[in-house]
Amino acid sequence: NKRGFIFDLDGVIVDTARYHYLAWKRLADSLGISFGETENEQLKGVSRVRSLEKILDWGNVELSKDRFNELLDIKNKDYLAYIERMDQDEILPDVLRVLSFLKQNEQPIALGSASKNARTILKEVDLLDVFDVVIDGTNVSKAKPDPEVFLKAAEGLGQVPENCIVFEDSVAGIRAANAGSMLSIGIGDASVLNEASYVFKDFTEIPTEFFSKLISER
Ligand code: BG6
Ligand code: MG
Repeated sequence: NKRGFIFDLDGVIVDTARYHYLAWKRLADSLGISFGETENEQLKGVSRVRSLEKILDWGNVELSKDRFNELLDIKNKDYLAYIERMDQDEILPDVLRVLSFLKQNEQPIALGSASKNARTILKEVDLLDVFDVVIDGTNVSKAKPDPEVFLKAAEGLGQVPENCIVFEDSVAGIRAANAGSMLSIGIGDASVLNEASYVFKDFTEIPTEFFSKLISER
């Protein structure tokens, strides 16, 4: 029995969500726009362009197209400086246990990320080969909560959306999975990810039997 297992990247596979946070915070601070955890939560899963639009909206700041693009570039360079120093230690707890269990059980595995840096990061932590399909920010035109990224991942795996399971740390991503008729599993705070079908604090909280059950269910 095969299902389609689709993983978000930032904050699910690797601990990069904090680097996005640090880079956006530095940028917001430089513009005099207040930026904390609450604002950050709303940027998780959101594309680079849309994130900057939101930050500028919060600060009532309007910029020229050139300046806007310049800031996108500054943020990404800042972010990439963190990424360069990354290694396998930044794979989140028990991610490797889960991936290897799914591999042993011959389950199709995809990445569904909004990030344009996804392949760079997967290479850095030596996980690129684990994914049968990688759909990232360079492959989609509609950002989460639109289901496009996950629908493309499902298609790549040769699975119907209803047979797919999505792991997400963001509200936008859970909404995208739900909109695509997939089973949504939140990784993080249950009060934030309350629209998910299931929520776990992290992968250490998901017993192997949970995955066996998912595999035998359909
Ligand atoms: C998502 C992150 O995975 O990718 C967002 O949750 C980020 O925080 C988005 O803005 C786009 O990433 P990148 O690497 O293309 O700037
Ligand atoms: Mg994420």
